[in-house]
Amino acid sequence: MRARDVSAVGVVGAGLMGHALALEFARAGYEVWLNDESKSQLDSAPERIRKAVSVLAEVGLAETDDAGPILERITRTSDLRVLAEASNFVVEAVAEDLAVKHEVFSDLDRYCADDVILASNTSAISPTAIGNATRRPDRVVVTHYFNPPYLLPAVEVVPGRQTSPETVRTTVEICRSIGKTPAVLETEIAGFVVNRLQFALYREALSLVEEGIVKPEDLDNLVVSSIGNRLGVYGPFRIADLAGLDVYEAICHNVFPLLSNADAPADGLRRLVASGRLGAKSGRGVFDWPPEAAAEVTGALARHAAAMLGGRTSV
Ligand SMILES: NC(=O)c1ccc[n+]([C@@H]2O[C@H](COP(=O)([O-])OP(=O)(O)OC[C@H]3O[C@@H](n4cnc5c(N)ncnc54)[C@H](O)[C@@H]3O)[C@@H](O)[C@H]2O)c1
Repeated sequence: MRARDVSAVGVVGAGLMGHALALEFARAGYEVWLNDESKSQLDSAPERIRKAVSVLAEVGLAETDDAGPILERITRTSDLRVLAEASNFVVEAVAEDLAVKHEVFSDLDRYCADDVILASNTSAISPTAIGNATRRPDRVVVTHYFNPPYLLPAVEVVPGRQTSPETVRTTVEICRSIGKTPAVLETEIAGFVVNRLQFALYREALSLVEEGIVKPEDLDNLVVSSIGNRLGVYGPFRIADLAGLDVYEAICHNVFPLLSNADAPADGLRRLVASGRLGAKSGRGVFDWPPEAAAEVTGALARHAAAMLGGRTSV
């Protein structure tokens, strides 16, 4: 399948990522088929998509009345076979569980036309393992988007051991066609790239707080107002080039031996989770999260993304 032959995209799973991916494909003009095994998820998807469009509209990345035409392009179905028969590219965003993904991919493989590419939005599961549930492992690939995908343009495209170069090429073109900036990994690796980097930072942050060096609030503020700002503009290698590689080499010598090499979550994190403090979704994590606080953070991210994306308003 070539990218120019793709007009209808199936999105399996209408949760946090799935409804937002349906929005992104519909916004770019694709006919979208959205499936979920949960009726309530399917029923609430249009309202969640409207909310996302209003977040975009508030910062000038969409028009408020874009929601109507976007929703007209999205057909919801509880029947995976209907989605599979109508789609010429499919993205899966169901639970992060290999057994669940195997069931979905095996059904998609049975119902989709032979040349349809099946992409998974898994955060960490191997594309080779997912492809093993199908007779088309050459047309199975990971496209790892970030939450929320309508504000964050990155996508990690991760081929499995049997994924064909043509599948990777087509998938990259499709990601670009919805305004994303895909990066292809040469080979699959657990955690892909961004989560490895993100969790390297999180491991060190947990360790610094656990050792009583700094309070979580101060650590977050330090990151946001220093490397966070820079990372919004350029990555670690450009940061090092600008600082001077001789300086960075010296710091590596001094600091690498001191960094955390913990191979399990810190005790403080385990205690929070065991006591039900799961973060914004339970109202309390490291910080308190009254209902309006999460929306405020998303709004701040939207304003930041608007500055970064420079007013993309395509529908
Ligand atoms: N949440 C994130 O920040 C994020 C970011 C990037 C990637 N991901 C990945 O995206 C995928 C989805 O994550 P999410 O956060 O949207 O989860 P979610 O729990 O919000 O949504 C998952 C949806 O899949 C549905 N579902 C489960 N089994 C199904 C099946 N057999 N058929 C149809 N629908 C089914 C559920 O009803 C639910 O609506 C996961 O693989 C996750 O790792 C998540």
